[in-house]
Amino acid sequence: MPDKNLKTPKDIIAYCFKDVINYEGVQAVLAAFSDITALKESEKRVLQSIIEGEDNERKRVSKDIHDSLGQNLTAASLNFDALKQSITQLEEKEIMKFSTGLGFLKSAIEESRNIAHNLMPKAIEDFGLIPTLQSLLNQIEQSTGINVKFYENLGEARVNRQIELNLYRITQEAINNVIKHSKATEVFIQLVLHKKEIIYTFEDNGIGFDKSKVENTGKGLGLKNIFNRAKAMSGIFDLDTAPKSGTSITIEIPV
Ligand SMILES: Nc1ncnc2c1ncn2[C@@H]1O[C@H](COP(=O)(O)OP(=O)(O)OP(=O)(O)O)[C@@H](O)[C@H]1O
Ligand SMILES: [Mg+2]
Repeated sequence: MPDKNLKTPKDIIAYCFKDVINYEGVQAVLAAFSDITALKESEKRVLQSIIEGEDNERKRVSKDIHDSLGQNLTAASLNFDALKQSITQLEEKEIMKFSTGLGFLKSAIEESRNIAHNLMPKAIEDFGLIPTLQSLLNQIEQSTGINVKFYENLGEARVNRQIELNLYRITQEAINNVIKHSKATEVFIQLVLHKKEIIYTFEDNGIGFDKSKVENTGKGLGLKNIFNRAKAMSGIFDLDTAPKSGTSITIEIPV
């Protein structure tokens, strides 16, 4: 009878210790394996709950901005709009000031909507990951002039909501890096659903960077966040880059 408590080798994450020793005058390799599957699982769960906690907090702040600040700004703007007719008898200078103030108010409304949306893209819940990503990417193309190509085979299919949110956040973070650091003119994103996994790739044709230098400074948060989100989904993360060679991120996520 096979022992039910024995896991197949596929299920085990093991730490291997090895050393070359002298065994009765002969050189030998001493190896010890330690099953660290439970440790890795619990690390993953801690990471998941930190990420979910942060996402929930973002959701709360987003709702506050949208429902409270946004509504107050809109009410103020409607009131000032209603005054437009009655200020025509004021001096030119005063009318200019009024219009400038109203302009600022309208930008503040637009900005608060954008901030609320970026903090918690409600559209993912409502319309799904792909349309929400597509709208983000269109916005980026229009505002930066970077040519963004997006290939996906998910269509309207829905996957786990946390995976959807993670992939959206990873894309936002990777795009921020492209805009801030890469000088890229092209971005190519692929999101391919296979039977048991999603393969996500994000490539740019920019200046690339020296991974070892960045790992040593450890200052930035973006790549760490991407890595942690990948890990929380039990994903396999790979970052391929070198100076002048562009940057490519690949994540294989079991589904
Ligand atoms: N697509 C990219 N092209 C070129 N360099 C990049 C790219 N992505 C990251 N880098 C380099 O890697 C560094 C670390 O990136 P990371 O996103 O972790 O931090 P950051 O962008 O500097 O700061 P933060 O994301 O916290 O605002 C960057 O400072 C930059 O030097
Ligand atoms: Mg960054």
